[in-house]
Amino acid sequence: MADPLKFSIDGLVLDPGDASLPLPDDGLLRGDGVFEVIRIYAGRPFALGLHLDRMERSAAAIELPLDRAALTTEIEALLDSLDHPDCLLRVVQTRAGRRIGSIEPLPVHTATIALATVTYSPTVILNGVKSLSYAANMQVTRLAKAAGAAEALFIRPDQVVLEAPTSSIFWATADGRLRTPAIEAGVLDSITRRKVLERIEVEQGEFPLDDLLAAPEAFLASTTREVQPIERIDDRTYPEKPGPLTKAAAAAFTQALEEELGA
Ligand SMILES: Cc1ncc(COP(=O)(O)O)c(C=O)c1O
Repeated sequence: MADPLKFSIDGLVLDPGDASLPLPDDGLLRGDGVFEVIRIYAGRPFALGLHLDRMERSAAAIELPLDRAALTTEIEALLDSLDHPDCLLRVVQTRAGRRIGSIEPLPVHTATIALATVTYSPTVILNGVKSLSYAANMQVTRLAKAAGAAEALFIRPDQVVLEAPTSSIFWATADGRLRTPAIEAGVLDSITRRKVLERIEVEQGEFPLDDLLAAPEAFLASTTREVQPIERIDDRTYPEKPGPLTKAAAAAFTQALEEELGA
């Protein structure tokens, strides 16, 4: 995560050096809390309502009170103070009741990406919950980098493909259909994934790694990456990056952006 540019704590807008949190807070001490990361395009948040809906579902799943009205007011004030029109907004709710907004620079993503697979068992009671307990998601990226890739891909012990630590994954079949893991497989209900699914036909299910490795093309989808072609997974190099279905998904996502935020 890049160094934040500005914070809001319980509605108080602060520069990074001036922001501090009272302890104890199990949000910090135990990763007990929830968060969202929202992309700001030209000063305006994309899919803010869907992000806050997911944050409410995450909070409800761990019995964490969340004051959506207060969060919304505080987000507006933080965005009004912005000097960076294109950036990320992180919103955090901690167990001790702190509401944190953080403005961060956009991460720089390469045009295509290499992944390394990592075996992972989803924690069933946190399925679909964007909790603050993301240490495993951070650690897999370090493991993938040590293996010579840029990012990790979670694979269940039964070889079912899941997702990258902060992105969903799609791939094409040899006869030109798109596939993505079903939410029930143990993946996050990604908002970028939803925007693609609303616009193009995609099969959802529990698919084995072999199916992905045999694909002619594959891509990651997320708030920060949008649609990013995959160049390689382990030893398998993809011939088409981007292939036609990756281009179609990128166009579908651009359409979603234009519909909400204008051209
Ligand atoms: C585990 C996981 N999967 C997928 C995604 C992509 O979700 P979204 O499209 O809402 O950014 C994220 C986002 O951070 C994530 O943490």
